[in-house]
Amino acid sequence: MDPIGVVRSPFTETSQIPKGCGAEHRAEGVLEIEPRFEAGLADIEGFSHLYVIWLFHRATGYDLIAHPPTDEKRPHGVFATRSPRRPNAIGLTVVELLRREGAKLFVRGVDMLDGTPILDIKPYLSSVPADELRRGWLAEAEQRKAR
Ligand SMILES: C[S@@+](CC[C@H](N)C(=O)[O-])C[C@H]1O[C@@H](n2cnc3c(N)ncnc32)[C@H](O)[C@@H]1O
Repeated sequence: MDPIGVVRSPFTETSQIPKGCGAEHRAEGVLEIEPRFEAGLADIEGFSHLYVIWLFHRATGYDLIAHPPTDEKRPHGVFATRSPRRPNAIGLTVVELLRREGAKLFVRGVDMLDGTPILDIKPYLSSVPADELRRGWLAEAEQRKAR
């Protein structure tokens, strides 16, 4: 993998990033794409939201059983969570594209650390109707917190 750029984010420590049930990701950041890849951004302005595929570059090792902050008392398999400690340390975030200035994409919704390497960007096209989505253990954890 050859990163195409880095995330500029207000977060320098993981403790600064909102976590747990109800956490909202409204922080603004910039996806700084390397000049050699800028031509690949042509026409991206037409999309409101983007998938950002990135590297958990500060994560070390992995656990097959994770303890997510949304459901601390209950363990879950790592592939049923968004834990940074995974066999292939790949992160996936949907961000809102606010504007583009050359090779810089100004976005809202970053949950990554400043300096995070970006592996890829793709347009976000949601095709699953909301009533067909199942949210697994997360829905149960949210219901317990709301009680
Ligand atoms: C729960 S993960 C979810 C990330 C992404 N939305 C996903 O689903 O892959 C977000 C957490 O990863 C951690 N994190 C963010 N950027 C990181 C990085 N570059 N290296 C290691 N950990 C990171 C922070 O603790 C942050 O709260």
